Amino acid sequence: MTMTAKQEKLAALFKAATVIPVLTIERLEDAVPLARALVAGGVRTLEVTLRTPVAADAAKAMISEVPEAIVGIGTILNPADLARAEALGAKFGISPGGTPDLLKAAAGSALPFAPGIATASELMQALAFGFDLAKFFPAEQAGGIKGLRALGGPFPNVRFCPTGGVGEANAATWLAEPNVLAVGGSWLCPTAEVKAGNWAGITAICQRTLKSLKAG
Ligand code: 3PG
Repeated sequence: MTMTAKQEKLAALFKAATVIPVLTIERLEDAVPLARALVAGGVRTLEVTLRTPVAADAAKAMISEVPEAIVGIGTILNPADLARAEALGAKFGISPGGTPDLLKAAAGSALPFAPGIATASELMQALAFGFDLAKFFPAEQAGGIKGLRALGGPFPNVRFCPTGGVGEANAATWLAEPNVLAVGGSWLCPTAEVKAGNWAGITAICQRTLKSLKAG
């Protein structure tokens, strides 16, 4: 697949998703009920972060047992993480940043991939490897909407998925930006709800968020 085709595939996926939950799974047994709860709430595109020892197995379980979910891998920090994501059968990969090694590996891989950027130089590095769709991270902390708009000046063709500090209260504002395809964040699956196994509560958060975005 060409780089352009890969980027467009990811852009379509993000656009259809609108909101992407960033999942940090501590207990393997939570993976499947959590994915089912999110899907039931209308949220199908999920980012499973490689931040816990069970992350890869959690993603694997979601992929095999919740076919309606579109499972991507997040917190990809190096080429080895990228290879893990590919081997798991993830649909996409996301990183909080982008080293030359990682960007090179991702450009050469078939996995649609969004590197993370917070500055113009980081974005220029990503663009040098062909990535014109990036995670803007940490979105609120790295300048918020004003920061993103400023980056849109020199880089009018770059599309973003802002993540970090995005939640129910500001998701719509971010999504109203013309260069924002989707927003990501952990607000859709609060740790307390996961710990308590409150799957209905997570479904309700997803439904409420999607409803408020539609109304806006
Ligand atoms: C991420 O990795 O994308 C962030 O940790 C998510 O940020 P949030 O917890 O502020 O949503």
